[in-house]
Amino acid sequence: MLVLGLETSCDETGVALYDSERGLLADALFSQIDLHRAYGGVVPELASRDHVKRMLPLIRQVLDEAGCVATDIDAIAYTAGPGLVGALLVGASCAQALAFAWDIPAIGVHHMEGHLLAPMLEPTPPTFPFVALLVSGGHTQLVRVDGIGQYQLLGESLDDAAGEAFDKTAKLMGLRYPGGPEIARLAELGIPGRFVFPRPMTDRPGLDFSFSGLKTFTLNTWQQCQNSGDDSEQSRRDVALAFQQAVVETLTIKCRRALKQTGLNSLVIAGGVSANRALRTSLEDMTAALKGNVFYARPAFCTDNGAMIAYAGCQRLLAGQHEDLAITVQARWPMEQLPAL
Ligand code: KG4
Ligand code: ZN
Repeated sequence: MLVLGLETSCDETGVALYDSERGLLADALFSQIDLHRAYGGVVPELASRDHVKRMLPLIRQVLDEAGCVATDIDAIAYTAGPGLVGALLVGASCAQALAFAWDIPAIGVHHMEGHLLAPMLEPTPPTFPFVALLVSGGHTQLVRVDGIGQYQLLGESLDDAAGEAFDKTAKLMGLRYPGGPEIARLAELGIPGRFVFPRPMTDRPGLDFSFSGLKTFTLNTWQQCQNSGDDSEQSRRDVALAFQQAVVETLTIKCRRALKQTGLNSLVIAGGVSANRALRTSLEDMTAALKGNVFYARPAFCTDNGAMIAYAGCQRLLAGQHEDLAITVQARWPMEQLPAL
């Protein structure tokens, strides 16, 4: 089954062709980062309009790359939520219009299920059951995964998501949007131990997170540096490193707890923040100590992309699921509501 995947939940137009027999055939992405950077964050209306402009050229591009024609496509998968409603509607309308014109089925995919299953596109995919840490711009969740659609939420952020904490902290420190990669880049040159930040909610039981206090703590430290006349690039690096270490160690402590609680030793990390190298290394060390493994996608498939939507949609289509012709999207959509395969 050849599936065209469309991702438009936020500020990236992602398109891919995934074949159930041959694997991923082509994948293309247009990132709107330059468009939104001047505003310091995503402007929803600009995002929607840009998705409209990019979608059809990207579909033509993946067809060319894969050496396919439109009539080869068996079904279309699109992100139906969660995300920005206007942006989601562009992908959903486009998918439903093409599916109607080509007389093939369409399926709405949950964006976080797409992220969760992205490591399945790698040469050594995880096998069920596993614990998943979903860390994106909008979500921080620990989930027990027993199969596709068999999701048990173990814990989540009570305030900012991990990616959101990176982005907001970076903004407070005068860095560019998106802040995650900027902080990671600065942290590489930071001096360890100069600042040590709290590891929020690790001193009490449970698997929930809270990152908004850490953001304020980081801002206060950076302002103290500035007020004492030490706003050098090195101080900025040291503050960035202390922030990243606090997030990474907090996530690692909670992941270890989740593995112990579930008795599993296989961990999947997915979503934009799973591209963070310090996080990967820390989770590799932690799972190795438990004689387990950590799985993640290549960096381009950690952040938003069409391949994960094509893959997740394909699994559900193969199980016989598809949508009717109505164009419906959901800004908020708990993943536990998805049907099991
Ligand atoms: O999954 P994603 O592309 O979009 C959402 O579904 O939200 O995640 C984007 C988030 C942003 O907050 C971005 O700052 C963060 O992922 N991110 C990173 C890194 N690369 C992207 N955070 C930390 N380190 C990175 N290397
Ligand atoms: Zn995402």
